[in-house]
Amino acid sequence: LGVQWNETAVGPESRIDELVDDRGEGGIFRVNRRTMTSPGILDLERSRVFDRCWLYLGHDSEIVAPNDYLRRNLNGRPLVFLRDAEGTVRSFFNTCTHRGAAICREPRGNAKTFQCFYHAWTFNNSGQLVALPDEAGYGESFDRSCYALVAVPRLECYRGLWFVGFSADLEPLTDYLAGAKEYIDLVMDQSEAGMRVVPGSNIYATNANWKLLVENSIDGYHAMPVHQTYIDYVRRQGGAVNKNALRGGAARSLGNGHAVMEYEAPWARPIAYWEPLFDEKAKPEIEAKRRELIERFGEERAHRMAETFRNLLIFPNLILNDIAAITLLYVEPVRPDYMQITAWELAPVLEKGETLARRLDSYLTFIGPGGLATPDDVEALESCQRGFAAVAEVEWSDISRGMGRTVPLSHDELQMRSFWRQWRDLMATGGAA
Ligand code: FES
Ligand SMILES: [Fe+2]
Repeated sequence: LGVQWNETAVGPESRIDELVDDRGEGGIFRVNRRTMTSPGILDLERSRVFDRCWLYLGHDSEIVAPNDYLRRNLNGRPLVFLRDAEGTVRSFFNTCTHRGAAICREPRGNAKTFQCFYHAWTFNNSGQLVALPDEAGYGESFDRSCYALVAVPRLECYRGLWFVGFSADLEPLTDYLAGAKEYIDLVMDQSEAGMRVVPGSNIYATNANWKLLVENSIDGYHAMPVHQTYIDYVRRQGGAVNKNALRGGAARSLGNGHAVMEYEAPWARPIAYWEPLFDEKAKPEIEAKRRELIERFGEERAHRMAETFRNLLIFPNLILNDIAAITLLYVEPVRPDYMQITAWELAPVLEKGETLARRLDSYLTFIGPGGLATPDDVEALESCQRGFAAVAEVEWSDISRGMGRTVPLSHDELQMRSFWRQWRDLMATGGAA
């Protein structure tokens, strides 16, 4: 296997199959570490994985008012995500149809038009070219309508989550999401008035392959050793840590590479599992929330919503974690050993005051560059990536845990195998590179 993994070096497509050593349930499952070091593999991933999947763009609540917009980067493409003057949600490539400059240079805002700073062509937020300096200088065949902003090929929404497809022939989003829909519902149903993204995000970068963070986000096995700092903190504050929860639960494949681990909440969550951590004042309010969930959904579903954790992977690079806080995490590959991460916090639309403050506190205590958990994860991932420098001598990572069990547990590795099997199937078959 060459270190530079490009189409010509790969040879027959069956060679990509060999990067995932999958000997069936009850056996061994290993991944070749070149999948996480090779620039050629990342090139192939861009066309064969990312361009053939629905990619998360943003949440409805981030562009509430007409003319709201924000910028995003998806699989390397610069995009604008906006609600136009009539209220229609749209997404355009953020590149001027004149000579390429960004038409939107602000991270977010509210605007009816975008004027390119290079030669001042102006587009409205439905994408039409509406003005340009010295139009008379163009010949007769110049037609403004041929220079409209280019929209993404596909744009669809499920429960407030907007996704982009870069291939026109993708299956509908709701089919693509398959079994993941039920888990999205468990989050979105937590508020009758709907959920929103709390303004602001954590944006950070890690010197590791993007797939390491995908694995880490659905990896129950690492929680006790890596997150000792956080667990000690919860204990010191008087919170209970249910160690057994981390050793039980279930892992499920949800189709199309999506996967989830679900388990009894092992420690504090602001809604609706009350902890001494939130102080006594919070207790009645959290119990009221729990009663409301029982009324709306019955005991069993309310229990899942209020007192269990779930880490959901929406293939290939969106994580929806309903744990100490509800977090959306988007992973953007940049280089084989470098990724950018954006994390947002979800909260009920109507939640305010101390309840919201408690939720945000729980989020920031655990997640993000200033949290007590994320920096430990980052160190673990960067440590793996540094270890991959020895890929010529130490070629394989093992993901076999739980293959011997009929029903894999949340701290097994079925979730990661679901991801890698889908990755292998997409990488090894079809699609122009
Ligand atoms: S590149 Fe935008 S106006 Fe020239
Ligand atoms: Fe972690």
